[in-house]
Amino acid sequence: MSFLRTLFSGKKVLITAGPTYEPLDPVRFIGNHSTGKMGFALARKLAEEGAEVYLVAGPTALTLKHPLVHLTHVMTADEMYAACAQKAPETDLWIFAAAVADYKPKDTATSKIKKTDASFTIELVKNVDIAANLGKEKRTDQFAVGFALETDQELENARGKLHKKNLDMVVLNSLRDPGAGFKHDTNKITIVKANTVEGYNLKAKDEVAQDILESIKVEWACLQKK
Ligand code: CTP
Ligand code: CA
Repeated sequence: MSFLRTLFSGKKVLITAGPTYEPLDPVRFIGNHSTGKMGFALARKLAEEGAEVYLVAGPTALTLKHPLVHLTHVMTADEMYAACAQKAPETDLWIFAAAVADYKPKDTATSKIKKTDASFTIELVKNVDIAANLGKEKRTDQFAVGFALETDQELENARGKLHKKNLDMVVLNSLRDPGAGFKHDTNKITIVKANTVEGYNLKAKDEVAQDILESIKVEWACLQKK
C-alpha cells in the first residue's frame, strides 16, 4: 500500500455537517436546506480508511454507524462551535462541511410567540464563524478544509475564504452549475488551494467525496514533506 493510501489511517479528523437551526421560540427556527450528505459521506470514507472521525452534525435525517465514527448531534451554531472547539486541538484534519447559519435571532422567546395584527420584525445577530475561529489556532501540523457555495465571483470569493479562515483547501460549489447544490445527489466542484485550482466533472456526491479526499492527500503529503 502506498504512502498516500495509508495517509488517513490512525489520523484524527473533525468534520462538521448539515445545517444549524437557530431558534426563535420553542417551536420555530431559522435554518437552511443542507442535508449533511457531503459531510457524512466524507466521514464514512475516512473511517473506512482507518481514521478516527469526530462528526459534529446539525439537524439531519442521516445517521452513521461505524466503530471509528463518533457522532455528536447539535442544533445551533454555538453548540456546533462548542463541540468543535473541544476536539480541535487533538485532531489532525478539520473538514468544515456544515452550512452554518450566518445569523441567529437576537432573542429566543421561552414561550411560543403569538400572532397579532401587527407586522413582525426579527432582529438577527451574527453567529460565531467556526472555521475562522478555529483557523486562528491552527498549527502547522494540522490541515483545514472548507466549503464555499457561491453564485457570483466564485473563484475570488473562494480564495478570500481560504485566506480569511486560514484554510488549506476550499471546495467550491457554484450554483450556476446545473446538478450542483443542496437538492441534488450530484455535485460539480472546483478545488481551490493556495497555488492551484482544479475543476471536476459532475459526479455522484459519494464520488465527489472520494475526489476531495484524494486532493487532501496530495496537498497534505506535500505539506508534511516541507
Ligand atoms: N463556516 C463556519 N461557521 C460559520 C460560517 C461558515 O464554520 N459561521 C464555514 C463553512 O462550514 C464553510 C466555510 O466556512 O466551510 C465557508 O462558508 P460560507 O457560508 O461559504 O462562507 P461565509 O464566510 O459564511 O460567507 P458567505 O456566506 O457570506 O459567503
Ligand atoms: Ca455563510
